[in-house]
Amino acid sequence: MQQQIAIAIDGPAAAGKSTVAKKIADYFGYIYIDTGAMYRAFAWYVLTNEADPKNEEQSIQLLSSFSLTLERENGKTFVMVNDHDVTKEIRSNIVSLHASSVAAYGAVRTKMVDLQRDMAKHVSVVMDGRDIGTNVLPNADVKIFLIASAEERAERRYRELIRKGEDVSKNQLLTEILKRDAQDSSRQIAPLKKAEDAVEVDTTSLALPEVVTKIINEIRRKVPAK
Ligand code: CDP
Ligand code: CDP
Repeated sequence: MQQQIAIAIDGPAAAGKSTVAKKIADYFGYIYIDTGAMYRAFAWYVLTNEADPKNEEQSIQLLSSFSLTLERENGKTFVMVNDHDVTKEIRSNIVSLHASSVAAYGAVRTKMVDLQRDMAKHVSVVMDGRDIGTNVLPNADVKIFLIASAEERAERRYRELIRKGEDVSKNQLLTEILKRDAQDSSRQIAPLKKAEDAVEVDTTSLALPEVVTKIINEIRRKVPAK
């Protein structure tokens, strides 16, 4: 059997992690795991149960009734919470904001990280998030830290949400992205941080294909058998 490969892609909000990670996974035939979707799914669950995501006790009480699966069908991943498809709902701006709150709670992170490590046990993966290279898969074969200026990231998220018909202001998105970056970088458990052995790629003025080619070359260099 071929050895499993793990690629970790971390970075701040809207740096392009999931877009790039999906393309890399398709290229190498690995499984893509979006760990942000898992924290989003739990934030959605807390909101749906009319609890306050900013209240740790209220939030973690809901963990025991929260069951999460990522189902793959025709190359697409569906995020299921207690058998309910939340793939679309978890992408709203309100869920983005609250995901960062619930992601700071130790009990939430423990549950998610266990699930994530389990998913990477038997298959080659490209996993994206905030703490993949530093915490979830510290022995990943290749670690990428994607960054872009906050203005560029707000612009990208703006274009994406407008395309989906959400009514948002670019300035407000910028403020929220900065707030989420600060929250994610300053939390006590597994904060957003570049792993020492990660390769940083600044995508501010790079087109998507350039970013993807750069990362494919990096993977080829470090994992020559592939
Ligand atoms: O996963 P993450 O939040 O880091 O970012 P994303 O959802 O992959 O990308 C945010 C938006 O930026 C998407 O609409 C991408 O299509 C776009 N994007 C871009 O315009 N240029 C890039 N180099 C990367 C992503
Ligand atoms: O797409 P975007 O980069 O905006 O966010 P995401 O990757 O979907 O993650 C949503 C939130 O989940 C982040 O703001 C983090 O607070 C949290 N998260 C985390 O704490 N650890 C991860 N490995 C992934 C996401």
